[in-house]
Amino acid sequence: MKVLPQISDPNLLVGINTGDDAAVYRLTDELALVQTVDFFPPIVDDPYTYGAISAANSLSDVYAKGATPLLAMNIVAFPSTQPRSVLAEILKGGSDKAVEAGVLIVGGHTIDDVEPKYGMSVTGLVKPGCEITNAKAKAGDVLLLTKPIGTGTITTAAKVGEASEAVLQRAVDQMLTLNRDAAHAVVEVGVNACTDVTGFGLLGHLWAMAKASGVGARIHYSKVPVIEGVWELAVDKGLIPGGTGRNAAYHDQHVVWGKGLPNLVHRILYDPQTSGGLLISVPKAKASRLEKALKQHGVKTVAAIGEMIADPESRVYVEA
Ligand code: CO
Ligand code: CO
Ligand code: CO
Repeated sequence: MKVLPQISDPNLLVGINTGDDAAVYRLTDELALVQTVDFFPPIVDDPYTYGAISAANSLSDVYAKGATPLLAMNIVAFPSTQPRSVLAEILKGGSDKAVEAGVLIVGGHTIDDVEPKYGMSVTGLVKPGCEITNAKAKAGDVLLLTKPIGTGTITTAAKVGEASEAVLQRAVDQMLTLNRDAAHAVVEVGVNACTDVTGFGLLGHLWAMAKASGVGARIHYSKVPVIEGVWELAVDKGLIPGGTGRNAAYHDQHVVWGKGLPNLVHRILYDPQTSGGLLISVPKAKASRLEKALKQHGVKTVAAIGEMIADPESRVYVEA
């Protein structure tokens, strides 16, 4: 955020100026601290599922850095007018996800609020120099994505009863999936840059990576994995989250739309994600090794969606 003053501290390895997912601070030559925070209002009705998704989302920013999350603090806003059992379910969902990740929840803070909100601040560790940032993608890199997109559209449709149970479940399964296994593969193989796809949508996060790295990007829509059922909801029924329009308004000046794309495809590519997959920029020579490693680590979606290109204006080209 531009309102914050610039910090220059030799131990701050990743700060606020690259739009990175988490801050990285060197403690010793062997150890750096990784810190991040995320929270949001309910995106699904079931409180347990909401808690678990929010925790997976909070942990994701540590994984995107190639780091190991250790400790978490709950951040909770909850209306005093609602039953405490609902809050207990939210926290249970978060706690179970933390256990799955091997992370200890060691505290937190709750306030009274009209609308519930839940998330975590997460602390992790990485060896200094091994942190992966948003800012080192190189022209020629292959872009890999590890989850299909469309969770924003589906959860928006579910709120007005328009998403079938099967479609909603597909989105929930994606959002509940930790990026841990994908991150293990990324660390093992070594990549140039990595981020997770969340509120700014695929194009927003891709542009942020291109911009921070001083390169451009080209993706092929036909290669982008989309959760089955999203197209019908977003394009045929027009059930699009508010964030889609905001993402388009903010980022479209950087996007060049190619010929032969389906009409209204921007509704898919700007769809804001919750607990989305990793977007990885890997040297071309390592791409097939990484694809293999991701699959070996049990990552179900491994999609090569495009490549980084030389472009000092950091444009994102979308082709059919
Ligand atoms: Co992130
Ligand atoms: Co975040
Ligand atoms: Co307190």
